[in-house]
Amino acid sequence: MSQRLAGRLIVLGITGSIAAYKSPEIVRALRAEGAEVQALLTPAATRFVSPLTLRTLTGHAVDADLLDLLPDGRIGHIVAADSADAILVAPATAQWIGAMANGLSGDVVTAACLATAAPVVVAPAMDGDMWGHAATQSNVARLQEAFGYVLVAPEQGLLASGSTGIGRLADTTTIVDAVIAAIGVAPVREPNAERRPPTVPAGDLSGRRIVVSAGGTEESIDAVRILANRSSGRQGIALAEAARDRGAEVILIAARVSVPLPDGVTIVRAMSVDALNTALRAALLPPPLGAAVAPVDAYLATAAVSDFRVAGGPAAEKLRRGDEITLRLSPTPDLLGGIAHELGARARRSTLLVGFSAEASATPRAHEKLQSKDLDLIVANDVTAPGIGFESPENAAEIIGADGAVTRVGPAPKRVVADAILDRVAALLTSRAGE
Ligand SMILES: Cc1cc2nc3c(=O)[nH]c(=O)nc-3n(C[C@H](O)[C@H](O)[C@H](O)COP(=O)(O)O)c2cc1C
Repeated sequence: MSQRLAGRLIVLGITGSIAAYKSPEIVRALRAEGAEVQALLTPAATRFVSPLTLRTLTGHAVDADLLDLLPDGRIGHIVAADSADAILVAPATAQWIGAMANGLSGDVVTAACLATAAPVVVAPAMDGDMWGHAATQSNVARLQEAFGYVLVAPEQGLLASGSTGIGRLADTTTIVDAVIAAIGVAPVREPNAERRPPTVPAGDLSGRRIVVSAGGTEESIDAVRILANRSSGRQGIALAEAARDRGAEVILIAARVSVPLPDGVTIVRAMSVDALNTALRAALLPPPLGAAVAPVDAYLATAAVSDFRVAGGPAAEKLRRGDEITLRLSPTPDLLGGIAHELGARARRSTLLVGFSAEASATPRAHEKLQSKDLDLIVANDVTAPGIGFESPENAAEIIGADGAVTRVGPAPKRVVADAILDRVAALLTSRAGE
């Protein structure tokens, strides 16, 4: 079959409708027709579909922030407006249609449409009553009659609210056909790739599966009290974000954290040592026979795991104020050591294991931990040094390999430390593949 959009650039504007989950399918259909696709998202749309997914599927930098420049410094909505062969807004919300009808350029999608000479195709999706409202209908009429936009009318069917009515996003094939018809035989507007939106290179962890644990575990003392630690989860979250941005599929197992969890990664919550152990074993150990799960390429154990818990388990009821209490603590199991043992000797296992040694004067203890647990890398940081470590946005670390090679990084933002650690992980994975 000939590709009807070969050589074309289609800018896909996505707005905050539940139907935004269909946008990856629209991207695939446009690409199957030979188009290059760039995604522009309203802030609301980013709540429904991840910019990372769209960046990965389109191979282009996603623009979701009107006041942010593209990675190469150009103004995203102007580049999109000037180089698109068509702008497709799918799904289009009632809010977006109203803003557009009135020329309000408060998001990248309206701004690009206002600035373009390309045909604009609009595929609304919303609740049936919203679609039927006189305001929506008059706004849609204005887009068609005053601006010449092509409308791909929503369809009758079951809506997200559970009711039936007109408001479902049109079928992907109908939308793609409308884009092709809108372009017709017009010449390609911007054949020069350098003037089109920038592409993103595949990251050095593309195709890798990486598990990161982050935060501090907590152990119950009684029905309301816990033993916890001061880990904020920042370093683990920075690692998960950096691995994601370098193309990896990331599973973030998060205990107690004091910063927001990232998007674009699979999040598993595990608050206690036992819950963390269960989550880690599910993610890292070979599945039961017959289950097809891709192996994990690396596990980065940043979580601060409680070393102790209340011996004999927590009190069933809230301990009363005023009583003098003695807490007897017993040691918790060594989770990373246990996983390392079950995965087998370093030379034979397929998952790289990266430990963290967070103690004062970390380095001698880190070497000992690296060897006793048979890890591939250990990251040693002195959590007692002022300005780095727990709760701080910065860190300084020594990254020590099983081969003895040491990288020193920081004091620097935790994202910089994360990328230095991932540089070592990526190099080890590459050298392993070449063995
Ligand atoms: C779960 C959920 C689903 C929604 N789906 C739609 C929808 O399909 N169509 C619509 O017009 N608005 C929908 N909304 C409301 C929009 O998200 C809201 O009007 C938002 O301001 C749209 O912003 P935007 O047009 O700038 O993307 C939905 C809201 C929620 C919470």
